[in-house]
Amino acid sequence: METGARLRPQPQITVLDAGGQYCHLIARKVRDLGVYAEVRPSETPAAELRGRRGIIISGGPASVYEAGSPTIDPAILTAGPAVLGICYGLQLIAHALGGAVRKGDKGEYGLARLKPLRAHRLLEGVNGGESQVWMSHRDRVEAAPAGFDVLASTETCAIAAMAHRERPIAAVQFHPEVVHTRHGREILTNFVFGMCGCQEDWDPKNRIPFIEADIRERAGDRNVFFFVSGGVDSTVAYKLCLRALGPERVYGIYVDTGLMREGETAYVRGLFSKLGATAFRVEDASASFLALAGLTEPEDKRKAIGEEFVAVQDRVLRSGHFLDANWILGQGTIYPDTIESGGTRNADLIKTHHNRVAGIQQLIAAGRLVEPLSSFYKDEVREIGRELGIAEEFLNRHPFPGPGLAIRCLCSASEQKIADQGGCWLVPVRTVGVQGDSRTYRGVLAFEQLIPEDKATELVNQSVEVNRVIGRLGAHVPMSLMRVTKGLLTPDRLERLRKADAAVRALTRESGFDREVWQLPVVLLPLGTGDLPDSVVLRPIHSVDGMTAQVVIMPQELRREVTKRLLAIEGVCGVFYDLTHKPPGTIEWE
Ligand code: XMP
Repeated sequence: METGARLRPQPQITVLDAGGQYCHLIARKVRDLGVYAEVRPSETPAAELRGRRGIIISGGPASVYEAGSPTIDPAILTAGPAVLGICYGLQLIAHALGGAVRKGDKGEYGLARLKPLRAHRLLEGVNGGESQVWMSHRDRVEAAPAGFDVLASTETCAIAAMAHRERPIAAVQFHPEVVHTRHGREILTNFVFGMCGCQEDWDPKNRIPFIEADIRERAGDRNVFFFVSGGVDSTVAYKLCLRALGPERVYGIYVDTGLMREGETAYVRGLFSKLGATAFRVEDASASFLALAGLTEPEDKRKAIGEEFVAVQDRVLRSGHFLDANWILGQGTIYPDTIESGGTRNADLIKTHHNRVAGIQQLIAAGRLVEPLSSFYKDEVREIGRELGIAEEFLNRHPFPGPGLAIRCLCSASEQKIADQGGCWLVPVRTVGVQGDSRTYRGVLAFEQLIPEDKATELVNQSVEVNRVIGRLGAHVPMSLMRVTKGLLTPDRLERLRKADAAVRALTRESGFDREVWQLPVVLLPLGTGDLPDSVVLRPIHSVDGMTAQVVIMPQELRREVTKRLLAIEGVCGVFYDLTHKPPGTIEWE
């Protein structure tokens, strides 16, 4: 459900979705500039886009040479409105107009330096010196089509930006929509106002009345029940429903899965009472989730947790009165949850999120679902929460994934050796990554000490075996004595992780470091010895929306303190630090 459809202006800009993870982010960044933008499938005929001032063709996971890869109506390139191609969009334009796209054998993921070569309206304000850009691609354009000038390059990408000499068509290989592209906002501004001539027509602050109107319309005279998690998304979604429908029509249930952090249940109780929830209860379902103990693969875990959630949900529903037609399900799903699960047509599957598994799909199909935040990003959800008067301390809580500690508790069904690679070690425990908009599932490279994050990115880009690099902060034994241990999703390992997570949270809160990061997953890795079977990995990152992330390095004194505290936990052999940006790693390990 798109929010506030009836009250929106005619879009001046259309973003054509070629399956990029960043496609909605592009539309949202344009709206942040005060210009209404919509997203449409890449194949949308030019005739349906009449009246637009500009078209942006997004990135995507495909290669223009693959059968069935997203295409565009070539008439878009001659129809009149200005066109900007981004990443795969650049390759599509080059391909359509007779340029040469070359399949890359080695990708370019992460930060790069842009060298402007020629002045153009698109790069106004960027030409002054070299500028940092964010890249995530494998294929590249080797020869620009006739009539195009190359505007900029990077060290490994000769055509990082190009533009037609006469027509208003420009394209960039990097992603101007992500915060890590330093002048991204200026580039989009140059396109939207300079090349398209758009007028401001959209106020991003004006969305709450639209959202509430949508909730009322979707609910009709039915009530809404929520399975709340205590996270920002479901809480803000709940509060919006509370305001739209009144407390007597909104019921909240918190399921204690036994996979949550220390002290969470009491915290959530207090929170909902403060929000004004009058219908709220806690369901202790921890025993039902013990059945997960045999699973080691991330997607199997997510699926099982999702299904167990639905089973608990069914049980709760049957024991109450929620099953009758008077009730629909409310969820705090945000935009990245849908895109990263392959929810939009062209996106490759990266991770299945538990709120998109089969049982929920059935409720969606039956139209018994309201997701008031489904077109927003995390930072927008926080802003909305702020506008609703929700406490800052709560809104600044780090996001925590629905499947809880289960996807931070890595498992191995058997013992395995780690391989000495001369100066570092290949740990054969696979973790999830995202490279060139596609999911990877690969091993981990472990160093005995921290190495620079740029070096880590380079190592991952060069390897087909690993998608993550960690550095060791401390351990009870040398690396040569460690191995991958047999470790499953058992109560004792979850308890070990819960203790480690609580220790890290306490120390980072005391030091104020928790405010310098967007999220700080603490991961349990089955790496150690017989007596000390696990290691703990710290994953502090900075992000704006969870779509991309940069590693943040803790001050040395705090690293020392955290390491000491973690090594004192029963069964912990070593402490490591994740040095991988997103891409190529994801934020969570699974
Ligand atoms: P990744 O690991 O994909 O994470 O880089 C991006 C953001 O999404 C959160 N995340 C999840 N949230 N269910 C959720 O509700 C999930 O299955 C899930 N997986 C990842 C993650 O914590 C980060 O904020």
